[in-house]
Amino acid sequence: MNKEIVVSGIRSTGYLHLGNYFGAIQNYVKMQEEHNCYFFVADYHALTTHPDPKELKQNVYRVVAENIASGLDPEKVALYAQSDIPEIPELYLMLNMLAYKGELEKVPTFKDKVRLQPENVNAGLLTYPVLMAADILIHRAVKVPVGKDQEQHLEMARNFAARFNARYSIDFFPEPQVYRSNQDTVKILSLDGNGKMSKSENVNATIYLNDDDDTIRKKIMKAKTDQGPSEPNAEMPDFIKNMFLLLQLTATPDITAQYTNAYNNCNIRYGDMKKQLAEDMVTFVRPIRERAAELQKDENAIRKILKEGAEKARPSSIATIAGARKLIGINYY
Ligand code: TYM
Repeated sequence: MNKEIVVSGIRSTGYLHLGNYFGAIQNYVKMQEEHNCYFFVADYHALTTHPDPKELKQNVYRVVAENIASGLDPEKVALYAQSDIPEIPELYLMLNMLAYKGELEKVPTFKDKVRLQPENVNAGLLTYPVLMAADILIHRAVKVPVGKDQEQHLEMARNFAARFNARYSIDFFPEPQVYRSNQDTVKILSLDGNGKMSKSENVNATIYLNDDDDTIRKKIMKAKTDQGPSEPNAEMPDFIKNMFLLLQLTATPDITAQYTNAYNNCNIRYGDMKKQLAEDMVTFVRPIRERAAELQKDENAIRKILKEGAEKARPSSIATIAGARKLIGINYY
């Protein structure tokens, strides 16, 4: 039986955090057993912010190490750097011809970047979703495990796939769907309640897979809380819901049930809950941090993984580009 094709990527822009883990990597690890998986470090995507050339390489190596430390097995998947697959920028160019300025300008993530970095609104930022569509469509993937923040980009990838198919009157690209392990895609909020956890914003309210035990404890003890509910079974504010989500993801079910009951009965003590969450989080992060540090000591091994990953990812990329060229009419010899 043919295995379903899965693609996903992580930008090499900083240390990975709980949002990356629970929004994406956890699903990669689940999917690697029964799917044909292509997972990559989106180093081209990272160029939109003009990273220091000296740091870029270490960032890429670290993303690889942190993925493996989280359970990804490079023997079971193709784990590669986006820039090692020259067919991706070629497909990006082709898809750019079918992407319209107006629709790209409306993308919420583009609007956010314009607000956050008005001094650097480059064309790469505008066409970011097109490059992302190329990453996915190059392997003609059907499933894409991503966090909630990427859903809009996936919708655009489906639009570009459908537009290409309509333009050349053929079902060449499948329309890729967001993969959810349960009913909903995950969004981990920043611990200060301001937006989502992210690699570069709110660093003191983000738990990185690289944080040491005490840093994790300090960050959790400072997480935003309130006076607690004043009536039984009250609706939780988002930042409290987020703390319960983190507890559910790292603690045993009986502990989560105990604190949920306390919340519903209006006798929750957030100080106790945070202490509990901090210890469960330390237990969760420590082995990943230690394993990632170990792996990063052996750069040769990481280079070998990337090289072999690219070798695994090239054949389907070459086949897709050959097919797309032919459909477009670029086949002269
Ligand atoms: P990036 O590098 O920002 O994030 C990598 C993955 O982590 C998920 N994620 C989150 N999930 C839940 N809560 C959060 N707070 C949180 N923060 C990040 C993201 O949804 C993502 O799955 N554009 C992508 C990289 C990319 C890509 C692709 C993904 C490039 N090409 C093709 C899939 C397919 C990005 O910037 O992810």
